[in-house]
Amino acid sequence: MTLLFYLYTTDMNRLIVANWKHNPATASAAHELAAQTAGIEAVEGVQVVVCPPYTYVETIHEAQPQLVLGSQDISTQDIGAHTGEVGGEILKNLGVQYAIIGHSERRAMGESDEEVTYKVRAASAAGIMPIVCVGEDEEVREAGMDAVYAFLQEQLSAIPDVAQLVVAYEPIWAIGTGKADNPASAGEVARYIKEYLGYLNIEVRVLYGGSANPENAAGFLNEPGIGGLLVGGASLDEEKFAAIVHAR
Ligand code: PGA
Repeated sequence: MTLLFYLYTTDMNRLIVANWKHNPATASAAHELAAQTAGIEAVEGVQVVVCPPYTYVETIHEAQPQLVLGSQDISTQDIGAHTGEVGGEILKNLGVQYAIIGHSERRAMGESDEEVTYKVRAASAAGIMPIVCVGEDEEVREAGMDAVYAFLQEQLSAIPDVAQLVVAYEPIWAIGTGKADNPASAGEVARYIKEYLGYLNIEVRVLYGGSANPENAAGFLNEPGIGGLLVGGASLDEEKFAAIVHAR
C-alpha cells in the first residue's frame, strides 16, 4: 500500500470512544449508563470504548463484560510506593484496553508534554492502547492554520517511539461548547497527523473530538483520515450516543 493511499482512504473501521469525564456521581447511575451503552445495537466495523471514572471500572467490567473499557488517564509510575497513582498494570488487570492521555482538561491542570511521553510509554508497556489528545486553543486557531500545525507539531513530538496508537484531535475551543470544528478542516488536520506520525513509522488512527453529536457525527466519520470520535457530553445520553454509534 502506498503512503498516499494510506493517507487518503477513509478508515473502514470506526472507533467511538465515550469519555464520561467526572460523571456520574453515583455507582448506580454509572451502572445504569453502562448497561444502556452495552445495550446499543452493535454495528459491524464500529468499536465502542467506554471510559468511566476509575472507581467504576471494575464493577462495570464485571457487570458488562462485553463493553470495551478505557481509562481517562494513566500513571507514569510502575507499581510501588506512589501514593494516589493508578498505573498500567492495575488498569490492565481490571480489564482496561485503552487509556486517554493528555486530555486538554488534564493539560489545563498542569500535565506536561513530558508526562504525556511517559504515560504513552507506560500504557504501551502494559499492553494498553494510548489515546493521545492534541488540539489548539482559540487564540492559536485565530492565528491561522500554520499556527495550528506548528502547535500540533510540538504536541505530537512528545509521542515516543511506539508501534501503534490513537490520536484524538480535539480543538480546545470545540470541547463542551456546542461549537464543533467543521469536518473538512478536522479531516485536513487528521491527515496531517497521520502523515507526521507515519513518517516515524507509527501506525495511528485519528479521532475527532469536540462537541460531537448525532447531527454532526456522520460528517466527521465520512471524512478521509478521521477514524472515529471521542465523545464527551453526548456519551452521557444513551439516545445521543446510540445515534452517534449508528451515524452514516
Ligand atoms: P465534548 O467533549 O464532546 O463534550 O465536547 C469531548 C472531550 O473532551 O473528549
